[in-house]
Amino acid sequence: MNATAAVAAAVVPAAGRGERLGPGAPKALRELGGVPLLVHAVRALTRSRAVGLVVVAAPADGVAEVAALLDSHGLEGKDIRVVAGGATRQESVRLGLAAIPAEVGIVLVHDAARPLVPVEVVDAVASAVRAGAGAVVPAVPLADTVKRVEPVAGGPEPVIDTPDRATLRAVQTPQGFRRETLAEVHARALAEEAAADGSGLPPVTDDAGLVERFGGRVVVVPGHEEAFKVTRPLDLVLAEAVLARRRAADAY
Ligand code: CTP
Ligand code: MG
Repeated sequence: MNATAAVAAAVVPAAGRGERLGPGAPKALRELGGVPLLVHAVRALTRSRAVGLVVVAAPADGVAEVAALLDSHGLEGKDIRVVAGGATRQESVRLGLAAIPAEVGIVLVHDAARPLVPVEVVDAVASAVRAGAGAVVPAVPLADTVKRVEPVAGGPEPVIDTPDRATLRAVQTPQGFRRETLAEVHARALAEEAAADGSGLPPVTDDAGLVERFGGRVVVVPGHEEAFKVTRPLDLVLAEAVLARRRAADAY
């Protein structure tokens, strides 16, 4: 195996609008401790020795702005490329993946919206792929009991059942893949979309979901509570608190 094949590349989908976070800049550019979420997320990846290249999928009208932003935050020494993302997360990942050199054998996909992922999680995911897994997800047990419901606008919604919480995991990123595995499932999903008769496939919200859809095997490694996704306003409050705690600890 040559050196390039042994080092992973990371795709960072960052083209979302962040509607659940409320009005303001695109979510990836919203600030946490004075630094955009995207910059935190890219730094978290570049801290891992397993990652040699980061490809950011930016909002299509913001490619130059995002490239300049990454440069201005001291990431200019790293191999970071910025491409235009797409209308869905899946499309953004596919476009980012297309920009990764063919000889790179391991690809991680990491949400820009998970700025505080510890480097240990990045390393653990990359190691598991290097050790032979085709698809790896970091995950944590659930605190809440989960119920499946029949969605009714305005409710009340009838409960269908309650899955056994002990068998459930909340899945995070980075998710890691053998490059061929990820490229193949994205190509198949695109082909099926093109062929769709309008009935459509249920959307997947993560890349491992595509692997599962096409019958591939996905394994779980331990995630971390600080790898949570900034989705709603309260998540930003929590992220600020985690960052302040880290900065205070570093000052000692
Ligand atoms: N994403 C993307 N391209 C899209 C949609 C989402 O690259 N068309 C990225 C987001 O930028 C984010 C990640 O996918 O880093 C996870 O998505 P999510 O948390 O849902 O972010 P948004 O789609 O931006 O938020 P919302 O769903 O609240 O609008
Ligand atoms: Mg979204």
